[in-house]
Amino acid sequence: MAYNVTLIPGDGIGPEVVAAAVRVLSATGVEFQWQTEVAGAGAIGEHGTALPDRVLESVRKNKVALKGPTETPVGTGHRSVNVELRKRLDLYANLRPVQTLPGVKSRYDGVDLIVVRENTEDLYSGLEHVVVPGVVESLKIITEKASTRIARYAFDYARTHGRKRITAVHKANIMKLSDGLFLDCCRAVAKGYPEVTYDEMIVDNTCMQLVLDPTRFDMLLLENLYGDIVSDLCAGFIGGLGMAPGANIGDEAALFEAVHGSAPDIAGKNLANPMALILSGALMLDHMGEHEAADRVRNAVHAVLREGQKLTRDLGGSAGTTEIAEAIAAKV
Ligand code: NAI
Repeated sequence: MAYNVTLIPGDGIGPEVVAAAVRVLSATGVEFQWQTEVAGAGAIGEHGTALPDRVLESVRKNKVALKGPTETPVGTGHRSVNVELRKRLDLYANLRPVQTLPGVKSRYDGVDLIVVRENTEDLYSGLEHVVVPGVVESLKIITEKASTRIARYAFDYARTHGRKRITAVHKANIMKLSDGLFLDCCRAVAKGYPEVTYDEMIVDNTCMQLVLDPTRFDMLLLENLYGDIVSDLCAGFIGGLGMAPGANIGDEAALFEAVHGSAPDIAGKNLANPMALILSGALMLDHMGEHEAADRVRNAVHAVLREGQKLTRDLGGSAGTTEIAEAIAAKV
């Protein structure tokens, strides 16, 4: 039986890394029926919107999507496709594993972190208005419902994946009500998982502690904004954005994409590192229960990294996106 998957190539390097991931996933022997949908800056000309309804319908129907990065204009204009997708499909859990990869030069060794980020509210609610000229208010929304379910997702993940410790990251010393509510929910959920150690850390201190020694953490549980910033910071421990996979998971659907953006500076040049999206594809296989195929994809990426012959420029090599995809597919 083939899996129906919505494929969103996206903007910039998106189509290049998505094609690479499709090449590698197809090599696993798992059968896919890809349904390609256009979203992002590239969709605006044809559809008048960066997120046509048919994209949402497709993901709702297939329940799984693989997505390239999409561009969001800064300041004015269209709302972020990512924020809209996550909110409208209620993909409330953003999962970002950060693991040291063999052969990748980094100042850090032995990093094995799981970042769990709340994906639907906080300052990303998009509720901003001009109070009077020169004064803007941006609303940070934190609810008991969303905080409890993201905490439950993180603790369930810890239980099923043998993780030992969850650190909730916050700024409740300043945002006593909003981050205070987030912590109350985390504490309440933690009581149901006595086998998982639970602790809390203020976000600025967390950043410093991470940079000093990321191996002292196991899982981080964060609201949306802190999660966005801290997960990019964590990508720096494992060789940069080209290596960091991600997943957006809800009760009805799941969408897999790399942490990185559309990298307009290298788009269309066959320079993009496709490994982050290929590893996101492995997370997708895990989500489908195809664990053996997922492991083969990860092992193939590790083997190519270990050999060190086929690496993109960001990893100090000179190979192109398509070459890397072929090398990984051959190992799969
Ligand atoms: P970016 O992640 O696109 O690029 C940051 C730096 O990392 C650039 O120097 C880029 O060349 C490099 N880089 C990123 N991915 C790479 C890869 N796979 N291989 C090699 N180098 C890579 O972040 P930036 O410049 O802040 O954002 C560009 C656009 O992407 C913006 O429109 C932003 O809104 C969008 N974006 C989309 C995301 C998504 O769709 N999930 C996530 C983050 C940003």
